[in-house]
Amino acid sequence: MFLGMRLTANTLVIGATLVCTITATTYATHTADAIQTAARWTIPATAAEEKNPLPMNAATLAGGKRLYDQQCLNCHGATGKGDGPDADKKYADTMDLTQAARAARNSDGQVFYKIWNGRLNPKMPAQSADMTRDQVWAVVAYVQSLRQK
Ligand code: HEC
Repeated sequence: MFLGMRLTANTLVIGATLVCTITATTYATHTADAIQTAARWTIPATAAEEKNPLPMNAATLAGGKRLYDQQCLNCHGATGKGDGPDADKKYADTMDLTQAARAARNSDGQVFYKIWNGRLNPKMPAQSADMTRDQVWAVVAYVQSLRQK
């Protein structure tokens, strides 16, 4: 009787420990995944080939500039140098949209998804809830016009 109780108690303890371990492991794995995602852009592999569907003209660029001034200027600055009032100086280099050297990692499609999905760390707000796809493409056209060739 006594032995039986001890066994049951031990089994419970072992069982509980196992559940805790599994939960802790699952949690750790998920947390690591979340941090990894948060520290990267969410860009589909096909983005590099995606072209801007809008006509490249003065009207598209003017519309893009209007949206840029509303949604992006605070961080990226009036000329795209990454020096807006809300800019974090730590990221001055990656926030500079005028750098020719960063053109290769900023094709039209890649810039589209950076704007559409945003990122968590360092923080750039996603625009998918605030802009239509065409509005984002207009911003892409404008932003790409700021880059030095
Ligand atoms: C709250 C500040 C903030 C706002 C608002 C913001 N961004 Fe950003 N953006 C950032 C930060 C920070 C980075 C750099 C992330 C990194 O280090 O890779 C960045 C990076 C980028 C990049 C990638 C640059 C590169 O060379 O990889 C593009 C393109 C961009 N932003 C466009 C925009 C556009 C367009 C808007 C407006 C729709 C916008 N951002 C709004 C903070 C912001």
